[in-house]
Amino acid sequence: MADNERDTVLAVKNLSVGFDQSQTRTVLAQVSLKIRRGETLGLVGESGCGKSTLGRAVMRLLPPNATMAGSIRLLGSDVAAMDERRIRRQRGGVVAMIFQNPMSALNPVLTVGRQITEALEIHTELRGRAAIARAIELLHIVGISRPRDRVHEYPHQLSGGMRQRAMIAMAISCDPKLLIADEPTTALDVTVQAQILDLLASLQERMSMAMLFISHDMSAIASVSDHIAVMYAGRIVEQGASTQLLRDPAHPYTLGLLNSVPHVDGVRRPRLQAIRGSVSAVSANDVGCSFRSRCDFAIARCGTETPPLANIDNDRAARCWLASADWRPTLTPKCAST
Ligand SMILES: Nc1ncnc2c1ncn2[C@@H]1O[C@H](COP(=O)(O)OP(=O)(O)OP(=O)(O)O)[C@@H](O)[C@H]1O
Ligand SMILES: [Mg+2]
Repeated sequence: MADNERDTVLAVKNLSVGFDQSQTRTVLAQVSLKIRRGETLGLVGESGCGKSTLGRAVMRLLPPNATMAGSIRLLGSDVAAMDERRIRRQRGGVVAMIFQNPMSALNPVLTVGRQITEALEIHTELRGRAAIARAIELLHIVGISRPRDRVHEYPHQLSGGMRQRAMIAMAISCDPKLLIADEPTTALDVTVQAQILDLLASLQERMSMAMLFISHDMSAIASVSDHIAVMYAGRIVEQGASTQLLRDPAHPYTLGLLNSVPHVDGVRRPRLQAIRGSVSAVSANDVGCSFRSRCDFAIARCGTETPPLANIDNDRAARCWLASADWRPTLTPKCAST
């Protein structure tokens, strides 16, 4: 195995996911990404674009009506080929997920401590008092005050921020190599959001864990990510190192996301601008760029040929006919003065 392959914690290749209802609806199309040891990949995009579906596919927790093509490798092993016993051991031990809604992900009838010790019993030798002691230690690590009391409390007794911390404690309890954090700050007020982001960054450094950080909020993504993948209607439309992508976005959708938040990476936008229109459903058979109806830069070719995710410079790719050569959208879109 080459050195950089040994460093790869997660490798997703050409992943497509559809949900069978009256007909199959494609919600992820040809998604490829890689996360290396200790690295954070931020996955950003509007509601419904497929972010949680990607996280659940990595955990092999897609619902029964889902169909999947492509490959997902965790530390080199094919997730689809694992038997039930192996995948259960992987969850928690190799990859753990902080689910989008902590209230529905936590079990309301079990104490926080019991939920953590359950995971410890599956993945470690710890039992009884030793497991409880470790649960208290984990609650302390994630910044929960009075952990000796809190360990005996139920999820409804905790504030939103504390529930999120408890979820994080459960997720890191078995020392995963990859943490999938799905909108971990969305339901929280701004000061608590900042605390949770700091907590995740410090845990990641301390445990040299890789992280897939999922959010629709470009400011949160910018503050934690080494690399960013921008997803639109089930496809990655731009990916690359975060400093480069934030400074000089190559896809008009990335530009739109940046223009719709006040501060990103220390740069203040003079004027906020929402992306017009709304996301259309993806279909793998659609011809043309799926963003074209909302794009201020669209040309005729965008309606007749589907742009590939093409490399535009070192370590960066964009799915846009205009992203290569000498064209780049500036931070002021054409329609800014109208
Ligand atoms: N079990 C399912 N059956 C059918 N469609 C589904 C199912 N789960 C998700 N979907 C659809 O797949 C699409 C992607 O959903 P997903 O939850 O991955 O989006 P998301 O990017 O995480 O959105 P949000 O930001 O709102 O969390 C949505 O249109 C959703 O309605
Ligand atoms: Mg989601």
